[in-house]
Amino acid sequence: MSTEGGFKVAVVGGAGGIGQPLALLMSLDPKVSELVIIDLNVAMVPAAGVAKDLSHLEGKCKVVSLTLEVNVDKAIDKAGDVLTGCDLVLVPAGMPRKPGQDRKDLLKVNADIAKGTVEAVAKHAPKAVVALIVNPVNSVVPAMCALWEKAGLDPCKIVGVTTLDVVRANKFVTEITGKPAEIPVIGGHAGTTILPLFSQDPAGRLIPADQIPDLDRRVQDAGTEVVKEKNGKGSATLSMAYAGARLGKAVLMGLAGKPTTECAYVKSSVHGDLSFFASTVTFGRNGVEKIHPVPGSLSEHERRRLEEMTPVLKEEIDAGLEYAKGVQ
Ligand code: NAI
Repeated sequence: MSTEGGFKVAVVGGAGGIGQPLALLMSLDPKVSELVIIDLNVAMVPAAGVAKDLSHLEGKCKVVSLTLEVNVDKAIDKAGDVLTGCDLVLVPAGMPRKPGQDRKDLLKVNADIAKGTVEAVAKHAPKAVVALIVNPVNSVVPAMCALWEKAGLDPCKIVGVTTLDVVRANKFVTEITGKPAEIPVIGGHAGTTILPLFSQDPAGRLIPADQIPDLDRRVQDAGTEVVKEKNGKGSATLSMAYAGARLGKAVLMGLAGKPTTECAYVKSSVHGDLSFFASTVTFGRNGVEKIHPVPGSLSEHERRRLEEMTPVLKEEIDAGLEYAKGVQ
């Protein structure tokens, strides 16, 4: 790898709704020289087909694939050939929540999926940054960090992807003000734990205070807008792929020696006794280089929301840590 690139990136769940467009966007990044598409043999499209498709795009990026057998314990653990040398592993592999399934059930299913990936990366590519898209991010990230630490690795390499909340907040502010925006979104990545800080951006500050609560709620519930219009046939995939690629590119910029900031959900001590928190993070040569504090100049609304969501996020972090405790 040089300062200009030559990075190897894997997308686990790369044949899925998010995975395919995410793989496309990453393959277009000139810093990526090799892209690995990993998915199950029951995926809607074979991973090999996605890789072949992308391999016809101009450019130097080599695209390879790995197909895992479903229900084979630790199938991904055999992925040494393709994972070795990876600099970044993006993980949109997981199930969406089904009707009647509570958050705890979803955590178990998706944490089990993420666990296989994280253990395999720990073994074959321990220097890689692992970006977890799979929900519930608020709990899966603490769970995977705990496992990563158990393996003697640096938990700062594991990053929860919350970029879609930033992208949505930016878009909604631009729709209202006509101006570009860069709204930090802090806290977590579900419901009220998503806290957009409109006060921290010049365009955000143009929005009258009485409109902020509705806009705040719209950012929290934006995923539902997509699910509704897709008529229950999926959730955000294209915007999520865009957001995941935005985060992935920031990580690669950092690895290439050009420190870059994005919001992300990471192991942190910036807010009270919460051990995980989304805030502005600077990515550098080793992954997360600096976790920026919560700005001191929050609005009254933001201050109250932060206080209200803290116990909610704490409970979701604890659920993840509890999962990790039960893992051999
Ligand atoms: P999808 O079902 O279209 O794709 C998931 C892919 O993961 C499938 O191709 C499946 O075969 C694959 N997969 C499942 N288990 C695997 C394993 N053990 N190893 C490798 N691949 C595996 O789902 P979609 O829409 O792409 O969503 C994926 C995840 O992303 C869900 O958990 C969803 O909740 C989450 N999500 C996260 C967002 C965020 O902002 N962080 C936003 C939207 C979705």
